[in-house]
Amino acid sequence: MTQTFDMPTLQQILATLRQVVEPSSGRDIVRLGWIRDLKLGSAESAEVSFTLLLSDPTIEFAGSVKRECQGVLQKNFPQIKTRIEQDSPMIGLGDDFRIDGKVAERGPGEGVTNIIAIASGKGGVGKSTVASNLAVALAADGYKVGLADVDIYGPSIPTMFGLETAKPRVSPERKIIPLEKFGVKLLSMGFLVDPDKAVIWRGPMVTSAVKQFLSDTEWGNLDYLLLDLPPGTGDIQLTIVQTVPLNGAVIVSTPQRVALADARKGVGMFDQVSVPVLGVIENMAYFTPPELPDKKYYLFGKGGAKALAEDLNVHFLGEIPLEEVIRTNADEGTPVVTDFSQNASKIFISVARDLVSQVEWRNAVRPATQVVDIVRG
Ligand SMILES: Nc1ncnc2c1ncn2[C@@H]1O[C@H](COP(=O)(O)OP(=O)(O)OP(=O)(O)O)[C@@H](O)[C@H]1O
Ligand SMILES: [Mg+2]
Repeated sequence: MTQTFDMPTLQQILATLRQVVEPSSGRDIVRLGWIRDLKLGSAESAEVSFTLLLSDPTIEFAGSVKRECQGVLQKNFPQIKTRIEQDSPMIGLGDDFRIDGKVAERGPGEGVTNIIAIASGKGGVGKSTVASNLAVALAADGYKVGLADVDIYGPSIPTMFGLETAKPRVSPERKIIPLEKFGVKLLSMGFLVDPDKAVIWRGPMVTSAVKQFLSDTEWGNLDYLLLDLPPGTGDIQLTIVQTVPLNGAVIVSTPQRVALADARKGVGMFDQVSVPVLGVIENMAYFTPPELPDKKYYLFGKGGAKALAEDLNVHFLGEIPLEEVIRTNADEGTPVVTDFSQNASKIFISVARDLVSQVEWRNAVRPATQVVDIVRG
């Protein structure tokens, strides 16, 4: 029989499934990352299929979620058949995951939906600035957000959040309780280790400290845990990205050639360990003098990171201008995005929203039971 209606797109299906909300958290199932392996069948079969991967299969809602999904899809797209499988996570956040074929440490906790690394090849391109502002932007949009600064040699999150002298407390269960500011749960290696003493640490000490720091922290329920990585693509970075069950990575680059070459290496590193690169952000993309708001000066060259993203077939998340207020706010401990009137603030918010849609889309279409089986290379 020939088709007499237009099949919905996967994006439309996903948008419809957002109507299904898990009552105890108030979060929809797309945001919770429960839809996996979302596929459209052939036009003839008029079928959509996916797996429901419940983070906690024992909750009451588990009994009705499948029916609710069928209900909303039936109502909005009466022509299509739905095939839904239900699964519990084989490997997920908070579960054991494997390195070198062996079961390794546990992840940062049951309640963390997405862990995203903010990385760059080159130092000083603005990773920590971007990570802080994205974290605050996501929190302002209502997401539960954590930011972990795993740059042991040069932690900058304490300064960027005005918490240089703060010390996190420890719970009776001997878990670290993250600090909280601007709606973001914060933890920095800088709160725990004196960077002057850490300089002499060797790679394995750093990575085991990072592992412990992430898994011994009481993050609670988080939609996003952002990791501010140290610069570079060396052993330390490679081990961190192999150790933490990342959902994806964001690469920050400035437009100059030297930075782009290193950004390319950064993308290569994540490819090597099969962590999806969610996008590239071009930082310090252009300068607009406050007295000439319509002018854009491309001090470091125009569109380099965008071109790199196209070349590597990676999503481009956007351009952040070079603005004095971004730096002064970072130095003063208030990320610029806390001031909604700033132009830079609007840009960070739109990049954060684009990042959310990339993450949710990747989660929905990726296979349900992905065994993280990492071989050191
Ligand atoms: N878009 C921007 N406009 C103005 N200043 C910026 C911008 N992005 C970053 N900076 C400033 O540049 C400096 C370096 O930024 P940041 O510390 O975020 O870089 P990084 O990549 O995290 O560095 P490292 O590699 O040392 O971790 C900081 O002083 C920061 O305030
Ligand atoms: Mg940094």
